[in-house]
Amino acid sequence: MLKKQLGIIGSPIKHSLSPVLQSYLIEKLDLPFQYSAFEVAKNDLNAAIEGAKALGFRGLNVTLPHKQRIMPLLDEIDAFALETGAVNTVLFSNGVATGYNTDLFGFLDSLRLADVCMTDRDVVVLGAGGAACAIISAAKKESARSINICNRTREKAETLAKKSACRSIDIDDITHSFDNAIVINATSVGMFPDIDETPLPKAAFRKNFIYIDIVYNPQETLFLQHAKAAGAKTVRGLGMLIFQGIMGMEIWSGLKINRKQNWPPLQQLLIDKMNHH
Ligand code: ATR
Repeated sequence: MLKKQLGIIGSPIKHSLSPVLQSYLIEKLDLPFQYSAFEVAKNDLNAAIEGAKALGFRGLNVTLPHKQRIMPLLDEIDAFALETGAVNTVLFSNGVATGYNTDLFGFLDSLRLADVCMTDRDVVVLGAGGAACAIISAAKKESARSINICNRTREKAETLAKKSACRSIDIDDITHSFDNAIVINATSVGMFPDIDETPLPKAAFRKNFIYIDIVYNPQETLFLQHAKAAGAKTVRGLGMLIFQGIMGMEIWSGLKINRKQNWPPLQQLLIDKMNHH
């Protein structure tokens, strides 16, 4: 059978784990796809989309720096992607390019796996970039009690809070304003090779809070180590990566893919890949 092309576009793209993740699913589920990584510079995005269309691609994953700028180039945008203001997955179907955001659903799946629910909880988002926007959409979808944005650059937190009808808060407010909040690191702080950094100082962690990191390399960031040391529940970042990818493959294939079953082998595969680098 003729295999349809899938791929990820971004820059830099060399260290993306998506080819390993998606190729595993393609082989495991015997899907008629082939998945590759493409280095695409900012100025080449338009040509890349047109090219993928012309070549009969089934879909694309989209990563930095294209997640926002791809939106006006697509024919349709899913409502959640529109709310988030970012697209990480594109489906080409009958000449129509539709943009989705599976990051926020991947985040929610990773919480479900860890038995964490944001409904009626106070949620604190550290960071005010693209990743923070996806987390905010997820918190809204789950009807969090309050969504509070805390960012190094306060003005950015205030702008985002205004745009998304949330609150902007200071670091000190996190421990003073809530009895049991869910705190999510949506910055890149603590990511390899800067593993000695944390977005919150050690003294700011509380036992009855829940701490979630979107950074997945290392698996247990200093942020999560501090949380554990305080006796708090933690959720690692690798689940979000895996589940956003599974949902992308569901969109392209039209199949429902079992998350519980595919999570352990995929987790091991990606950890091995990261250790190899
Ligand atoms: P992304 O789209 O991946 O979220 P981004 O838009 O560049 O990336 O956002 C990065 C976020 O991480 C920002 O909120 C940034 O804070 P600033 O707005 O102050 O730049 C935050 N961030 C990055 N490095 C940081 C650091 N060392 N300490 C605190 N926050 C940091």
